[in-house]
Amino acid sequence: WFAAAADGPLKGRRVLVTAGPTMEPIDPVRYIANRSSGKQGYAIAAALRNLGAEVVMVTGPTGIPAPAGVKAVRVETARQMMAAVEKELPVDCAVMCAAVADYRPEIETEHKIKKERGGLTNIPLAENPDILRTVAQMKTGRPALVVGFAAETDDIIGHAEAKRRRKGCDWIVANDVSMGAHCAMGRDFNAVTILSDDGEESWPEMPKAEVARRLARKIADALAAPRPAQAA
Ligand code: CTP
Ligand code: CA
Repeated sequence: WFAAAADGPLKGRRVLVTAGPTMEPIDPVRYIANRSSGKQGYAIAAALRNLGAEVVMVTGPTGIPAPAGVKAVRVETARQMMAAVEKELPVDCAVMCAAVADYRPEIETEHKIKKERGGLTNIPLAENPDILRTVAQMKTGRPALVVGFAAETDDIIGHAEAKRRRKGCDWIVANDVSMGAHCAMGRDFNAVTILSDDGEESWPEMPKAEVARRLARKIADALAAPRPAQAA
């Protein structure tokens, strides 16, 4: 799958991308999921590959084909995504674009729940593993650069920066998903702000493919830069 490796600044680097939603089954016909088209994650995987990286994309169900030259590992649930990510480590950089369902039904029933029996009005939930946090807080073998995403509707920068600190990732790519003309959900355009220790960098609205190209270049620059001296 990696025969088409491009020459570029990420040659010799292994990068992991998570993309798409996860689906958490309630019964054979119903599920809980977050809204995600997978477009931004797939575009980022393609852009990283175009800069020469060996790219593994762990993706939930999206219905879009994997970019050529990218290894796609297909999963459905958050727990499957966590296991697939752990299997692909170590990597130089991890970019977590997936819209992971925060909770799953505690019990998945083999038999369809019948609504007239009231079984759908109270579904006990269990919290899913936080994939970004797990990778960002690894004691050994942590990727040199861990990038998370934050889709927010209000106080976008405040929430996204709090999330960056809480999860321990290096960068957070924040975007506004309030309902309205500029909502990135499912669209081909996105306006993002990148938060890091260096502060915030806002990019104007542009095609998701262009957000991906810019982000891939920024990742290549960061991985090429000499590592900052560890504070004593
Ligand atoms: N993420 C993850 N695993 C989870 C939940 C989130 O890897 N179980 C990652 C997403 O891929 C994204 C980042 O964490 O990169 C932020 O996800 P988000 O849903 O915004 O954060 P949460 O901590 O779940 O907070 P909330 O949904 O309450 O805003
Ligand atoms: Ca969430």
